[in-house]
Amino acid sequence: MADISGITDKLIKTGSLNRDEIISLLENRTPEIRRTLAEKASAVAKEIYGNKVFVRGLIEFTNYCKNDCYYCGIRCGNKNADRYRLTEEEIVECASSGYDLGFRTIVLQGGEDPYYKDDLIVNIIKAIKKDHPDVAVTLSIGEKSYESYKAFFDAGADRYLLRHETADFDHYAKLHPANLSAENRQQCLFNLKTIGFQTGAGFMVGSPYQTYKNIADDLLFLKKLDPEMIGIGPFIPHKDTVFADEKAGDLELTLLLLSMIRLMLPTVLLPATTALGTIDPGGREMGILAGANVVMPNLSPVGVRKKYSLYDNKICTGEEAAECMNCLKNRIERIGYEIVTDRGDNIRFKMAYKNEIKN
Ligand code: SAM
Ligand code: FES
Repeated sequence: MADISGITDKLIKTGSLNRDEIISLLENRTPEIRRTLAEKASAVAKEIYGNKVFVRGLIEFTNYCKNDCYYCGIRCGNKNADRYRLTEEEIVECASSGYDLGFRTIVLQGGEDPYYKDDLIVNIIKAIKKDHPDVAVTLSIGEKSYESYKAFFDAGADRYLLRHETADFDHYAKLHPANLSAENRQQCLFNLKTIGFQTGAGFMVGSPYQTYKNIADDLLFLKKLDPEMIGIGPFIPHKDTVFADEKAGDLELTLLLLSMIRLMLPTVLLPATTALGTIDPGGREMGILAGANVVMPNLSPVGVRKKYSLYDNKICTGEEAAECMNCLKNRIERIGYEIVTDRGDNIRFKMAYKNEIKN
């Protein structure tokens, strides 16, 4: 029988566990262990970032995608998806209205849509940066070549989100068609880091076929990659996908993993995701109390929000950006935290950025 309190103590004191210890902790977890780890994790987040929750304005600019990931509602094989693309002008306009609402990070997310050639993405980044030099631009547009990533970085993009999805090659192959590989996805992440992006990886909790061993490997992969941001949220089925009848990921396991990640990678920027808020109305607040420190309200035009449907019953698809922001602000304040609108860089990058604007 594993010594669970020994493992919990080791995680709190050292931030490191081996694969067997992670698996034991997941197998033998109790509500009390989760509470203890949540308390320690939120204390660590507060020690580093204070009482602050950083906001990122999310612009979902295209739901066209050339990929066919089996879990994803906007996969190319979904013939029921109502497809849309925002123009360069609409994206820049959306970013400006986010700026006026106080957002200092804009996340441009979309399917892998060949319509947006590198030059167009570069122009969009430059236009946002020209209008608002103090805004951080985050991209989340999938797997690209080293050269493309470098062009985006040179144009002024600051951060890149690319969940590794699962570190295990066999598990990856069960979630994706054969033209996509875990190897390439992981290589992209290492390329992004080499280029100098603040880089985000992550995975879905409770994706089909996922085992505790897979999750342990995910945590160990994250520890090795040492990204500046980590996005995890529950898998939620979408009715028009291969996994329509699978069950959603578990709230309590997602919260435990948020706490474990905070303890293993203390400085990481860790969102309480929309998916977490979708499986439970208080999910995002619980995520913050478990160690998360980022929220990503939707800045996309209301008319397209429902169409960016990765999973069923997604929340916040009917509100204007300003309403979203107010609602989140109130929710976060109610649990004793404060929404802040600065860039919210990872503490490791913050000093570098300050020096850059001084020079
Ligand atoms: N195309 C970009 C990429 O590949 O990174 C960004 C868009 S992709 C839809 C963003 C993330 O949504 C994926 O990395 C995946 O983890 C998550 N996602 C997709 N389908 C989901 C589902 N059914 N439930 C929960 N999360 C999902
Ligand atoms: Fe491409 Fe989901 S399959 S964004």
